[in-house]
Amino acid sequence: VHPTAARRPNYLTVQSENTAYTDEHILAKYYNRGADVVVADGQFTVTPTVQPFEFQTTRKVGKTGLMMIGIGGNNGSTLCATILANKHQISWHTKEGVQQPNYIGSVLRASTVRIGSEPGTGKEVHIPISDVLPMVHPNDLVLGGWDISGTPMDQAMKRSRVLDYDLQRQVAPHMALMGRPLPSIYYPDFIAANQEARADNVIPGNDKQAHLEHIRADIRRFKAENGLDRIVVFWTANTERYSDIIPGVNDTADNLLASIKSSHSEVSPSTVFAVAAILEGEPFVNGAPQNTFVPGVIALAEREKSFIGGDDLKSGQTKLKSVLAEFLVNAGIKPLSIASYNHLGNNDGHNLSAEPQFKSKEISKSSVVDDMVDANRLLYKAPAPGAKGKAAKGEHPDHIVVIKYVPAVGDSKRAIDEYYSEIFCGGRQTINIFNECEDSLLATPLILDLTILTELLTRIKYRAVSETATDFAPLYPVLSLLSYMCKAPLVKPGTDVVNSLGRQRNALESFLKACIGLEGNSDLLLETRIW
Ligand code: NAI
Repeated sequence: VHPTAARRPNYLTVQSENTAYTDEHILAKYYNRGADVVVADGQFTVTPTVQPFEFQTTRKVGKTGLMMIGIGGNNGSTLCATILANKHQISWHTKEGVQQPNYIGSVLRASTVRIGSEPGTGKEVHIPISDVLPMVHPNDLVLGGWDISGTPMDQAMKRSRVLDYDLQRQVAPHMALMGRPLPSIYYPDFIAANQEARADNVIPGNDKQAHLEHIRADIRRFKAENGLDRIVVFWTANTERYSDIIPGVNDTADNLLASIKSSHSEVSPSTVFAVAAILEGEPFVNGAPQNTFVPGVIALAEREKSFIGGDDLKSGQTKLKSVLAEFLVNAGIKPLSIASYNHLGNNDGHNLSAEPQFKSKEISKSSVVDDMVDANRLLYKAPAPGAKGKAAKGEHPDHIVVIKYVPAVGDSKRAIDEYYSEIFCGGRQTINIFNECEDSLLATPLILDLTILTELLTRIKYRAVSETATDFAPLYPVLSLLSYMCKAPLVKPGTDVVNSLGRQRNALESFLKACIGLEGNSDLLLETRIW
């Protein structure tokens, strides 16, 4: 068994007055340290703050289902086949030799976290992130979902042309047992016209309320039939066009529910799925870029205290961009332009070759450097007071994204990025990056991470420590801790988006550690520096 797929008994114990273990829970006290900054007349007055919190994590990992919308696509079928390969320990022959299944590319299954150092030697100790708190093992996920294409799952895997033949051959009988995807909602206006030929497995009629109820019934049935405690509902279907945000239609929870009842044309399939999951009390994650989470969906999730997260998997080019842009700006170098070009030949690329769907992807890919630029007003001029439109962003690098459909390259996406920057005293630097890999093999582990993390976050509650004892409450419904895996992270309305990959990872690690009563990450390592 590859180490990324290995199960390890729960062996981590934190000995501290801040951490307590019961049969049911891990309880941890955490001091949230920050600083209030008041700016007046060009003077900054900083006051350190500290708020004590308690976290309560349910230790028992429930039986978890993953229902994917678009299960028959490249990501969906690849995820199912690779989980089955791991579960049944299927190894296969490639021209390089025998390949073992693994979970490489999953931050939760294949990366580690530093928990401290050995007394005496000071040697740092790292453990798998998945061992910090009890998390569902991917092999235990119960898989199911919907697709507008009724192609059986073994054939869908073949159609995707992602996995090696020898793996496909061996995993096909297991995939065949999954049968066909459940029929789904198809509103042709939302995805490219070139997808129409695929749509042979659709829920009939145009009544959106009936569609909502149909999907809710599917979720309930899947849960009951498989004896599940929790289902993560995951959009990995085609990218839709943006929905217009129309006052009275999708701006509030009640307006949105009324618009579904009246089958309003601006309610997309992904929004119907999100509403279905929210009303069933099951988390919904959007792995594509469209604005599924119109304001009415967010308001509904808040009202129902049901979890949502997204948007758009941050797999290759954008992940690198959120590292490189941060590196450049933090190094005091000024990117003047970032030009990104992609071509790919899978069905996602085909769908994105239509303008409205490309637009969704373009928006999602474009905002990724905004926070780094905003954080450095030495390099980039701040917006003038009261500036509107584009000028409201202040000075900004030129940023362009191009995506082209080239069928021959299939799932093997090519991404070329040029970073053109101003360096010391008028100098210029050009960095070019060429990235080539199977798109779905980068994306699939992210679906796993998002699912595993989402399930975990549903088991964590918190309360502020104060004189009047309060009950533990669930986390806020918009799960911004999923940001690390998302190109355009959904955050609580009115709060800042963090795109920097390093900061996103730090937040995630620090949160997991907080839940066991350990301080966040410090690279200070004072003991190695000053005595
Ligand atoms: P794909 O085109 O192979 O699969 C999408 C599947 O969704 C298809 O089987 C299609 O029949 C189905 N579908 C379309 N509309 C549907 C609906 N209303 N209900 C149910 N099923 C529906 O695409 P792929 O490569 O699997 O990507 C899936 C999504 O993930 C796309 O939106 C893509 O933009 C997004 N994504 C993919 C990344 C990657 O690296 N592969 C990275 C980031 C995002």
